Amino acid sequence: MNKPTKLSLANLPTKIELMPVISKQLDVSVFLKRDDQTGSEYCGNKIRKIEYAVAEALRQGCDTLITCGGIQSNHCRATAAVAAKLGLRSILLLRIEEKPVVSGNYLLDLLFGAEVRFCSKDEYRYSRNKMMADICDEIKVFGKKGYVIPEGASNGIGCFGYYNCMEEIIDQERAMGILFDTIVVAEGSGGTHAGLHLANKVLEANKRVVSFCVCDDKEYFQKAVFDICTSCISYLNISLDLEIDEIEVIDRYVGRGYALSTPEELAFIAKTAKENGVIFDPVYTGKAFLGLCNEIKRGTFSQSKNILFIHTGGIFGLFPKDQDFNLANEPLSSSDPLFLRSPRDPSRFV
Ligand SMILES: Cc1ncc(COP(=O)(O)O)c(C=O)c1O
Repeated sequence: MNKPTKLSLANLPTKIELMPVISKQLDVSVFLKRDDQTGSEYCGNKIRKIEYAVAEALRQGCDTLITCGGIQSNHCRATAAVAAKLGLRSILLLRIEEKPVVSGNYLLDLLFGAEVRFCSKDEYRYSRNKMMADICDEIKVFGKKGYVIPEGASNGIGCFGYYNCMEEIIDQERAMGILFDTIVVAEGSGGTHAGLHLANKVLEANKRVVSFCVCDDKEYFQKAVFDICTSCISYLNISLDLEIDEIEVIDRYVGRGYALSTPEELAFIAKTAKENGVIFDPVYTGKAFLGLCNEIKRGTFSQSKNILFIHTGGIFGLFPKDQDFNLANEPLSSSDPLFLRSPRDPSRFV
């Protein structure tokens, strides 16, 4: 198999750990693969794909990385971090609906020296690829060579990031003496799911790979994953029969829509942090893990013994939503007699 070469930037392999509390509550073993710990500046799933994309950019002699995403895009932040690390420039096309608050991933984009261009929701939806191609042309005049990374680095080359992750999981299974029969992941642009799905087929790992999408719907992502897998196969010298219907997507947990939270989702993130010591993000992993827990209760995973949820990161996306958690006004827990009853009213201090 001829996999393209990649950079080596992420902290890999990422750790796999049991979530003891929730496993007991749900009566099934739930493990986390800590892809939220692939690095600090470029933590999360995107770095695995970017390692391939940027290696290709360097092979082509490019000096500027151009990509796109929402204002709080983890992918854009990771791209900006990698560009700064390698002495490249980055230009980010960010989708906004109102004046952006400098916080979370957007704050980091600016700290990494990314040049930011804004676009509207409609421009993003219908012409982001053209806009990025135009930026590429524009910088040519100044002697710069751009490399366009599509949304989420979810294309044929980026797909190898999670193809490798599946190989990593199989190695870890051997070392740990555990078989993860079910792999679960949040889905936003399809590349993570595609890499896992493709590797599962090629390596005949026989796992159930399931995504919980955070926007659009099942049909949209089945097609997106199918197309990304097809494009990835073209890099390899193999023939493989792919069936769109075997791509498993659950679309019941999109909630209010992309990057929009419900009180239930935020309460779930807070509860999971308190009871399990794990922070999920509001845009991707919080929705997907809530979905997983609900679907376990509904019996969707009744055949699963060891479920591996890939924690794909996103922690910086929490900070722009700090007010929505309303934690400062939470009542003190009165059920625990040992709870330290220190007054929490901050107005005492002013
Ligand atoms: C934290 C996080 N988790 C999951 C995803 C979904 O990954 P993908 O875009 O490959 O579907 C993304 C990006 O979209 C992300 O930033």
